[in-house]
Amino acid sequence: MTADAISLDCRLTMPASSLDTIVSLCKRRGFVFPSSSVYGGLGSTWDYGPLGVELKNNVKRAWWRSVVHERDDMEGLDAAILMNRLVWKYSGHEATFSDPMTDCRACKTRPRADHVFAAQKGRDPKGLAEINAAIEAKEISCPKCGSKDLTPARPFNLMFKTSVGPVDSGDDAGLVYLRPETAQGMFVNFGNVLDTMRRKLPFGIAQIGKAFRNEITPGNFTFRTREFEQMEIEYFVRPGEDEAAHEMWIAERKNWYLKLGMRAENLRMREQEKHELAHYAKRCVDLEYLFPMGWSELEGIANRTDYDLRSHSRSPENPDAVGELKYFDQEQKKHLVPYVIEPSAGADRATLAFLCDAYEDALVKEPPAEEVAKLRELVESFARSVGRREGMAADVKQRLVATAEAIATGLPATLPRLIGLMEDSEAATIEVMKKVRGVGEKIAEEHTRTVLHLHPRLAPLTVAVFPLKRNDPRLVEMARGLKRDLQRAGLRTVYDDTGAIGKLYRRQDEIGTPWCITVDFQSLDDQTVTVRDRDSMQQERTKAADLAQALAARLA
Ligand code: GAP
Repeated sequence: MTADAISLDCRLTMPASSLDTIVSLCKRRGFVFPSSSVYGGLGSTWDYGPLGVELKNNVKRAWWRSVVHERDDMEGLDAAILMNRLVWKYSGHEATFSDPMTDCRACKTRPRADHVFAAQKGRDPKGLAEINAAIEAKEISCPKCGSKDLTPARPFNLMFKTSVGPVDSGDDAGLVYLRPETAQGMFVNFGNVLDTMRRKLPFGIAQIGKAFRNEITPGNFTFRTREFEQMEIEYFVRPGEDEAAHEMWIAERKNWYLKLGMRAENLRMREQEKHELAHYAKRCVDLEYLFPMGWSELEGIANRTDYDLRSHSRSPENPDAVGELKYFDQEQKKHLVPYVIEPSAGADRATLAFLCDAYEDALVKEPPAEEVAKLRELVESFARSVGRREGMAADVKQRLVATAEAIATGLPATLPRLIGLMEDSEAATIEVMKKVRGVGEKIAEEHTRTVLHLHPRLAPLTVAVFPLKRNDPRLVEMARGLKRDLQRAGLRTVYDDTGAIGKLYRRQDEIGTPWCITVDFQSLDDQTVTVRDRDSMQQERTKAADLAQALAARLA
């Protein structure tokens, strides 16, 4: 075994410290692009590029495999996005899926009025009337600028409207909504799945699909967008068995992220407080991830009680439903309405979390002392310039100075942190940063690597095959043949001969490819190749004929 760089013990590493670093990698390497960019884009909408779509598909596939194929109590579903409007009437979304918003006349921001009330009065408001009384009495103020000149709060429904049929008549005759959650498709199909699949409680339905919300404050890259994908489960149980099932799903879902390599210290569970609960929920536990912008929701696991099945059943409150969504319990010889446990995850959020978790800048080779000294001087000069800069927010100034000083003191070990600073949009406003980049980028290019430690099952590409020399037809032929064999074995494989091997390794590290295969002159004699492991950077010789089976086994 050989290593292609200095030993692992002296590798110094750093995870992504800012979302900007992830956004930049995503754009540079074809994971995610701003949508409609040829027309200047559409705020907070994103397109998954060639590598991003592979990664997101792998996340969805891993979820489906875990919650449908590997269980005996689950069925899948793919319901339509457009549904009868009555679904959203009786689910409660038409009346309650809204946020009360107020406009600040001074700074023109539009904060959520209930959040402002709760933060400033120390308790939740009882309703819109109480919020508006507080605004009128100037008891609450804009959280951004402090002005008390706020407009009365208005409910802002988050559902996107469209219309069905050839003519938009202007009234509500053809009104339909783009679904704001996939869940309702599963509730209204409860009877169909129960009957056709001859299921007994407990059992669940799983679905992956697009959802749409006219979010007031989308942002943080793909974390909160107006169009996104959900991966949801509705798990039906007898009333009384719901609390145990809830605990079971909380543990299952946390383990799913851990088994796919997410670091335990970046994952936590948070019990939602009463005032946070959705109108249908008895209890909800959020799985949160430590994103670069702080702890934020990754997935919610709610106990929705029998709210939804009852809401969509014919009753005095719902004369529009054609029947009842209930279950005949053979043991108790009576009908009952099941309770529902709902683990609801976002495919985009999970993909972003896996990316953040996998990201690392690492120092792999000591740079020469004189280059380090020059860089240190420049970073110190940058810190002094920030200190002198007028008009920069104090907290930004403090952060930049502290970061630059720590980097300067710790060089060359802190070279990976310098990469983050060189990509920082606020640091870029300081003139001397240009000089830091001029020197720093070259040293970083030669002595560090960016690597995505994605679980092999999630990585967009599984294997990359290179010939040691692209101008030797025997090496090229063998490498191309090996690529075809691996592809036929179901492994996502690419062939590349567009650079020196070291450069090709770095390129694959940056997109998370777990294994790189090099065909060299020894390969022509003994049919072995080198397999280089992304994480350890170790290489070992393996028989080319055994590769497909060996790598497929590591993916299983
Ligand atoms: N059916 C329950 C439900 O929809 P939710 O907490 O509103 O619950 C579930 O959404 C998950 O969907 C969230 O945990 C998040 O991962 C994802 N999600 C919700 N809104 C999102 C948005 N605007 N952009 C991206 N993902 C979102």
